[in-house]
Amino acid sequence: MEYNIALLKGDGIGPEIVDSAVAILEKTADKFGHKFNFTPYLIGGCAIDAAGVPLPQETVDGCLASDSVLLGAVGGPKWDDQPGDKRPEKALLGIRSALGLYTNLRPAKLYPALRAASPLKDEIVGKGFDLMIVRELTGGIYFGDRGYREGRYGQEAYDTEAYSVTEIERIGRVAFETAMKRSKCLCSIDKANVLESSRLWRKTMHALSEEYPEVQYTDMFVDNAAMQLVRDPQQFDVIVTSNMFGDILSDEASQITGSIGMLASASLGASTRGMYEPIHGSAPDIAGQNKANPIATILSGAMMLRYSFGLSEEADCIESAVDKVLNAGWRTADLMGSAEGISLTCTEMTEKISEVL
Ligand code: IPM
Ligand code: MG
Repeated sequence: MEYNIALLKGDGIGPEIVDSAVAILEKTADKFGHKFNFTPYLIGGCAIDAAGVPLPQETVDGCLASDSVLLGAVGGPKWDDQPGDKRPEKALLGIRSALGLYTNLRPAKLYPALRAASPLKDEIVGKGFDLMIVRELTGGIYFGDRGYREGRYGQEAYDTEAYSVTEIERIGRVAFETAMKRSKCLCSIDKANVLESSRLWRKTMHALSEEYPEVQYTDMFVDNAAMQLVRDPQQFDVIVTSNMFGDILSDEASQITGSIGMLASASLGASTRGMYEPIHGSAPDIAGQNKANPIATILSGAMMLRYSFGLSEEADCIESAVDKVLNAGWRTADLMGSAEGISLTCTEMTEKISEVL
């Protein structure tokens, strides 16, 4: 099969880790007889420098014309003084919205080989955990009404959390379907004891749960969920939550796996075109030093094969190559911690995975 993939390398370590994922995708294509055509487009700070805007129209058009999109990371101190709507991060929200990617799947699992890198005690993570966070991605406070106004104490800034039944049902359905394919347990996370939007979220999820009698459905307040994730992560399988809560909880989930450098994500909409990216950022402190962990981006490439192209055997093959390399004791600097192993650069890790493929 032949596919056209748009590459949004972005800023910081973005170019290094996307190059790694491309190398692995190319090796996979050779092995299975596919052809992947890669076309780079600018996004984030590098787009501000080259074109004056974080998300050039050419980038949006290029992504819309491709079969799928692979993204590195955006942002860095150089662009921190940009006004809110010209920041590199705005481009990320813009492209998610332009491509209609309302679902964000963020799997977080503990690799047995990396157990020592997890900050949690053995008695908590001894049995491992494997969870899937389903984050709503094009609504909520990230996209709600915002601005400045005169308030009780003078000028104030505000952002608004708003969710419609349609948006909640749309993401809810994805979460229930995801649960049906896994262990049939779904936990919806909200703040319904305080927020009106969360009360509508909960009511809508409850109504939807009646269509999925086989799924064991529960709901939980977000503060409790943040606590439960470090107290007993194994109690969760599929989690569904709003855009902002999902952003926060997925970073927390990544830490308990040992490193944020391991977590991939898939952003999906109504079509098969998705955008795949590591959940970590642009790590400007290590950019250009060949130190970054490419695994989250490589695994994002595997998710692309699985979710957008239906190539699950190929995706399995990449995931198992990552497993084997970790089991053999190969690590990148972020995975060293207290764990034993041999530390590799970004390109060396990519070569190891490629050799095993
Ligand atoms: C993420 C990131 C982004 C988000 C930022 C960079 C806009 O933190 O993908 O988790 O908040 O969605
Ligand atoms: Mg985040």
